[in-house]
Amino acid sequence: KKSIEEKTLWPDAARMLDKAEKDGVETAWDRLEQQTPHCKFCQTGLTCRNCTMGPCQIRKNAPLGVCGADADVIVARNFGRFVAGGSAGHSDHGRDCIEALHSVALGKSTDYSIKDEAKLLRIARELGIAVEGKGVSEVALELSDLFFADFGSRQHEVSFLVRVPEKRKKLWNELGITPRGVDREIAEMMHRTHMGCDNDAPNLMLHSARTCLADGWAGSMIATEISDILFGTPKPGKSKVNLGVIQEDMVNILVHGHNPIVSEKVLEAVNDPEMISLAREKGAKGINLAGLCCTGNELMMRQGIPLAGNHLMTELAIVTGAVELIVVDYQCIMPSLVTAGNCYHTKMVTTADKARFTGAEHVPFDMHNASHQARKLVQTAVEGFSRRDSSRVEIPQGPMEMITGFSNEAILEALGGTPGPLIEAIKAGKIRGAAAIVGCNNPKYRQDYGNVNLAKELIKRDILVLVTGCVTSAVGKAGLLMPEAADEAGAGLHEICKALGVPPVLHMGSCVDNARILQLAGILANELGVDISDLPLAGSSPEWYSEKAAAIGTYCVASGIFTHLGHPPNITGSETVTNLALSGLESLVGASFGIEPDPFKAAEMIDERITSKRKGLGLS
Ligand code: SF4
Ligand code: FE2
Repeated sequence: KKSIEEKTLWPDAARMLDKAEKDGVETAWDRLEQQTPHCKFCQTGLTCRNCTMGPCQIRKNAPLGVCGADADVIVARNFGRFVAGGSAGHSDHGRDCIEALHSVALGKSTDYSIKDEAKLLRIARELGIAVEGKGVSEVALELSDLFFADFGSRQHEVSFLVRVPEKRKKLWNELGITPRGVDREIAEMMHRTHMGCDNDAPNLMLHSARTCLADGWAGSMIATEISDILFGTPKPGKSKVNLGVIQEDMVNILVHGHNPIVSEKVLEAVNDPEMISLAREKGAKGINLAGLCCTGNELMMRQGIPLAGNHLMTELAIVTGAVELIVVDYQCIMPSLVTAGNCYHTKMVTTADKARFTGAEHVPFDMHNASHQARKLVQTAVEGFSRRDSSRVEIPQGPMEMITGFSNEAILEALGGTPGPLIEAIKAGKIRGAAAIVGCNNPKYRQDYGNVNLAKELIKRDILVLVTGCVTSAVGKAGLLMPEAADEAGAGLHEICKALGVPPVLHMGSCVDNARILQLAGILANELGVDISDLPLAGSSPEWYSEKAAAIGTYCVASGIFTHLGHPPNITGSETVTNLALSGLESLVGASFGIEPDPFKAAEMIDERITSKRKGLGLS
């Protein structure tokens, strides 16, 4: 049995784990214990359930499934379906954003509007839509139609490939992995992995890459860009992080999930004076909104709303006993939150018809009722305040300050409008390279130990760190998202950060916002006239858990960026697939995966990669 100390790096989590035990609340760590040891066949990818001649397990004395599929085919098929699930998650979120933009453009939704017209016009122009003489709605309509088409079967390539360097596009064409349509690649992955279709592991892996590229350069990128258009492009600003953002004397509402379409509306309702006076009538000082996971990142990037925590903090936030309402949309929401909420007065409300939770109240949101539904929710939260049992409230104090809001637009603005100064800093070796640390928590690790230590080690080596998703909360709690953290950086990075007044670790948003990092990589490569794989860049997900994280890792590698993972996906049962992931992909797409659970060794691995890329560019 792991001690609390071994479960997490954080005092706020430790206090709540202790309280959870006393209050009888089961957490992911408890359930992991019950599930350990895991099935070895599943862990190595050697089980197949794709038909009813099976299910089959590959063993020494039974090396083939009933159909004749071997370990390589079974592992590659399983991996293909795994990343197709992740790509579907990001991309379906992107589709919801297109539907929102479309309904705004048609004047059908008065609940949403276009906040960043300049960005709408800029993107429309970038994608070849003539904007002159057209109204904003007309342009928005044409742009949403183009994005809908990116999900279909009639394009040769998704629109945002205009951001990809020519060399890379040529390479993808030669390999036959140019993403054509988001839904098409995902559906084709399901088709290929049906019994009796694609039975060649490397060929399956190439389609995995294509499916994930459709996620990164279309599904996710569309989600990010439309969210900026509808809710504003992020600018640097202050915020706060850890469970201390929950307020004892206020009605507390947490938003959890991924899509800002719901949480932005909840924020509006929270700020409604009528709602605030309602809360005061009930004896609260006001209404406090805080975020969890990615929808928390979305609200934080654009509105400065504080972040209560990442994936493994979601159950623990409820354990404070001070949360009236948790509003969720979709993805990464543990079903156990309903049970945890029932131990207190915390109500969980679902908002998406495609993500319902038994035991939670369902208040469906759509384009035409969002403001109304959001007010209804906030009212529910306010009413819940009188049911709070103050004797069971315990809130860890002292949130950490942090800076958020580093969209590419904001980064370029800080640099004076062009990537030139960043490139100069890289050439001079003041910034030796950049690494994106992204993804999740996983109770198999000491929470955030890998996320935080890897970031610290990299900035010491003058490697600029970019973070999204659940790593935000990790590095934020460690103080690395403050300009003062430049003192922990190497001399070169320290100098640049001081000159610009920015932290050595930049918060770039939610998981779909990894698309911002892809775009930035494209900008740098184009500026230098090289391929993305020539740049001193790396990706990392030290504590990943989800299908979506595997999809991100795969599109990162397929885009030419070396990617470190704390542990491998369930592929190690196939030597062919494992070798392809660890080295074979290098000769195909110019990057591969590296696996290393120890963040200090991982930093070494990333440093070596960046050093060799610098050499390749003729830099010392
Ligand atoms: Fe077994 Fe082949 Fe069916 Fe998979 S597809 S369950 S390996 S028979
Ligand atoms: Fe996420």
